[in-house]
Formats: sequence, structure tokens, C-alpha cells
Amino acid sequence: MSGSAITPWVVGNWKMNPMQADAKALVNGFKELLQNNEIKEENCHLGVAPSMLALAGIQQELASAVRSVYSVAQDVSRIAGTGAYTGEVSAELLKDHQIDFVLIGHSERREIFGETASILNEKVKNALNAGLTIIYCVGESLEQRENGQAEQVVLQQICDIASVVQAEQWQKIVIAYEPIWAIGTGKTASPEDAQAMHAKIREGLTQITSFGSSIAILYGGSVKAENAVELAACPDINGALVGGASLNAESFYKIAQAFANTK
Ligand code: 13P
Repeated sequence: MSGSAITPWVVGNWKMNPMQADAKALVNGFKELLQNNEIKEENCHLGVAPSMLALAGIQQELASAVRSVYSVAQDVSRIAGTGAYTGEVSAELLKDHQIDFVLIGHSERREIFGETASILNEKVKNALNAGLTIIYCVGESLEQRENGQAEQVVLQQICDIASVVQAEQWQKIVIAYEPIWAIGTGKTASPEDAQAMHAKIREGLTQITSFGSSIAILYGGSVKAENAVELAACPDINGALVGGASLNAESFYKIAQAFANTK
């Protein structure tokens, strides 16, 4: 299977946004747009990642959408199961609430909350054991890119999880390449640069796992309606992880449309 035969994913990462009333309006606006039936299930997976607090409520709202839109947790505990761990939400608790998807390794978690490779490995292991699908984020800083280390950093981040992902479990992994310098800055990687990195990631994945050619590799970092079509046209870009633009129903819908129609 070539990279372009993969069904694309468009996932909105709401981060620490929005307030309740705005979240409701956003999800209702998106549901309304979906009624056009232009984005078929078989042409694009869709997901949104609200705050942990809003996750169950948004999932309930999405249950009445005309097509499936996955509810994605933005994080999961490094601790498995249940127990006296104040403030934590385990993979098992997510699964118990019918949440089947989780983001792990976002650069904001790595940088702001000090999540190291070993912490991320615990999260990955627990999530897979609980049967969750993981959107695993990787990406280099501006300094690393300028020093010519981008590829090495990104491939290392993927190799990091290889020790805890068992052979069959690679089918439950989606990769999101998010160059840190492009997140929330308005600076998107050029389609050429993004495609080049995605091709390297694809090459790395095929060396690590027999599922390497069928793993979706999403791009994230200032994706908007205006640049979605050219990103979607790149053969190894199999979707988008969208921050800011996913907080507007119309922009998010247009991005999804771009991937559903271009792939
Ligand atoms: P922006 O789309 O706001 O740049 O955020 C990207 C991101 O971090 C998605 O996880």
C-alpha cells in the first residue's frame, strides 16, 4: 500500500479551549456542516480532542452527528488502572467511557510538562494495553532544524516508542508530525519540507514494523483552510492535526473537506 492509499485523518486539538458555551456552539456548527454529506466516512476519519472535562459531553453531542466523529483524549495518565492518583485519568478510565483515541507526546506536553521518553513510553504502553488508538506526536524545535538535526530528532522520537509497541499494536498507532516552530505561529512547513519529513518517517516506520506502509502520518502546525489543499496533495501527508483552526467550525470543515477530496 502506498502512503496515498491510506484513508486520511483530520483531528482537531482544542487544547485548553474553549469555554463551555463556545464548545457547544462549535460542535453544533460542525455537525450542521456535516449534514451536507460531503465528507464520507470512507474518505476521511474525523476526530476532535476537547479538554478532559468536556470530553464526555462532546462525545454525547457527537453521537447524533450524521457520521462518526471520534472523541479523542488530549492526554492519559502514565499510571494504569484505578487507584489513589489525584488528578489522573488512566487509559482504562478512558476506555470505560468509550473513549478509544488519545494524543500522546504532543510537544506542549514534552516541553511545558517535562514529559520524557520514558514517561511517554509508560503512557503508550498503558494506552495500547487498554485497547486505545494513539495519535503519537513528534517534531523538532527551530534550533534543531537549523542545526540540521530535524530528521534525527523525529526518527529518534519514533524509535523511542518501538520498545513498548508490540508487533500487532502498530496498527493502533497514528503518527502526527508537528514541527514545534510551526505550532500556533502561523508558519506552516512548506509542503515540500513537510512531504520530505513525512517520507523519512514513512521510511523509518517500514524499517521498524511490517505495518509501516499503512500507518497514517498526519501533519500539524498552522494548518488552515487556506493551506490544507496543498498539504493534502503531498503523497505521504495522510491528514492533519489541527489546533487553532479547529476552533472554528467552518475552517475545520474546510480542512476536512480538503483531505477527503484530495486523497
Ligand atoms: P496550530 O494548528 O494552532 O498551529 O496547532 C497545531 C497543534 O499543536 C495541533 O496539535
